[in-house]
Amino acid sequence: MNTCSANILVVDDELSMRELLDVMLTQEGYGVSLASNGKQALKFIEKKSFDMILCDIRLEGGLPHFGKIIGDSSGMVRIYDLIRQIANTKTNVLISGESGTGKELIARAIHDLSDRKDNPFVVVNCAGIPETLIESEFFGHVRGSFTGAVSDKKGLFEAAHQGTIFLDEIGELTPMLQVKLLRVVQETSVKPVGGTAEIPVDVRIVSATNKKLENEVIDGNFREDLFFRLNVIPIKVPPLRDRSGDITLLANHFIEKYSAKMNKDISRISSYALNFLNQYTFPGNVRELENLIERSVALSSTNIILPESLTISTHKRRRWIEGIKEKRFDLEDVDKGVDLDEILFSIEGAYLKKAMEISGGNKSRAAELLGMNLRSIRYRLGKQEDSDGKAS
Ligand SMILES: Nc1ncnc2c1ncn2[C@@H]1O[C@H](COP(=O)(O)OP(=O)(O)OP(=O)(O)O)[C@@H](O)[C@H]1O
Ligand SMILES: [Mg+2]
Repeated sequence: MNTCSANILVVDDELSMRELLDVMLTQEGYGVSLASNGKQALKFIEKKSFDMILCDIRLEGGLPHFGKIIGDSSGMVRIYDLIRQIANTKTNVLISGESGTGKELIARAIHDLSDRKDNPFVVVNCAGIPETLIESEFFGHVRGSFTGAVSDKKGLFEAAHQGTIFLDEIGELTPMLQVKLLRVVQETSVKPVGGTAEIPVDVRIVSATNKKLENEVIDGNFREDLFFRLNVIPIKVPPLRDRSGDITLLANHFIEKYSAKMNKDISRISSYALNFLNQYTFPGNVRELENLIERSVALSSTNIILPESLTISTHKRRRWIEGIKEKRFDLEDVDKGVDLDEILFSIEGAYLKKAMEISGGNKSRAAELLGMNLRSIRYRLGKQEDSDGKAS
C-alpha cells in the first residue's frame, strides 16, 4: 500500500469507470474524490486542492444544458434547434406535452433567447383565474366599470408589452375568452373592460397545454381559428419515458441542486439506484424525478444516493397501481399505507368504461347514466386517457 496520502480527483461520466478507479486508488492509499462532469469537478477544485486529476477525454454529451433545460436526448435536441430558429421572431408558439415535461422552462428559454429578453415575461395560468375576473385580468379595466373597480387597472397583456405572454393551460380558456383572445391576436390591441379606447400591444404569445388541443377543436371545445393563430409553431415535448437517456443527466443535476441547497455533500448516485430510475416510467415526468431526488437527498445519510432512499414513494406507488389493476381494494391494506386518490381514480375509470360500453361510445348518454353533464364526462375521460397514455 502507498503510504503517501495524495488526493486524486477522478472525472468520468461512466459510473463503472469511476467506481473502478475509486476502489483501485483507495486501496493504494490515495484520497479519492469523484465527479461525473466538468461542473462537479470545478466545484471540488474550488473547495480543495488536488495532487492529480484523472479526467476522461470526452465527457458524455459535452454541454448538456440549454438555458436551464437539461437533456441531450434527440427529442430535446430537436426542441433546442427549433427554439434557436424561432426565438427571434414574433411567431406564436404552442407547447404541448404531459404535465411535468418542462413546458414552462421551454417557454422561458424562447423568451430568454429572443430580442424581447429584457422586457417582461408574463405567466398566466388560464385555469387559475376565476371566470368573473379573467377578462379584467387579461385586458384590464377602467374605474367604475364594475363593483370593486375603484381605479383603472392594466391587464396582463399590457403588462407584457414588448415582451412575451405565457398562456399556460390554454385549453381551459372559456369560449367567451377565446373570442376575446382571438380579437387581441388579430388586432394586436386590447380594450379594457368598461373602456372604449383600443390600447395597442406588442406581445408574443407562447401557450402551453397538456391536452390534445386538436381533439378539443374536433369536440367543439376550442375555436379552430384561435387554435391556428396560436399554433403557428407547435413544440411537442416528449414524456420522460420516451427520452430515458436524459434520466441520468437530470438525476445528477437535481442531486447537485438539492445537495447544495440542503448543504449536504452528496456527490453521486449508486448504479443500482440509477438502474431503478431507468426502469421507472415516471408518469409525473421530470417534476416527479425532481421530487424523488429532492426527497432522497433530504433522507440520505451517506454521500451516495442508494436505492433505499429512492424507493419510498415509487415502490408504494407501484404496489398500489398493481393492486388497483387487479381490483384488490382491501381495507386491511390501509395500515400499510394506501394512495386513496389512485384508488378513487381507478374506480371512476371502471365506471366510465362501463357507461361508455353500454352507451356504445355516446358520451352524452354515458354522462346521463352516471348523473353528470357532458363537460364533466369529457373532462374525466380525458384524464383517464392521459393516465392510460402514461401507463402504456
Ligand atoms: N429538462 C429539464 N431540465 C431541468 N429541469 C426540468 C426539465 N424539465 C422539467 N424540469 C423541472 O421540472 C419541474 C416541472 O417543469 P415545468 O413546470 O416546466 O413543467 P410543465 O410541463 O409546465 O408542467 P405542468 O403541465 O404540470 O404545468 C420544474 O421544477 C422544472 O424546473
Ligand atoms: Mg406548467
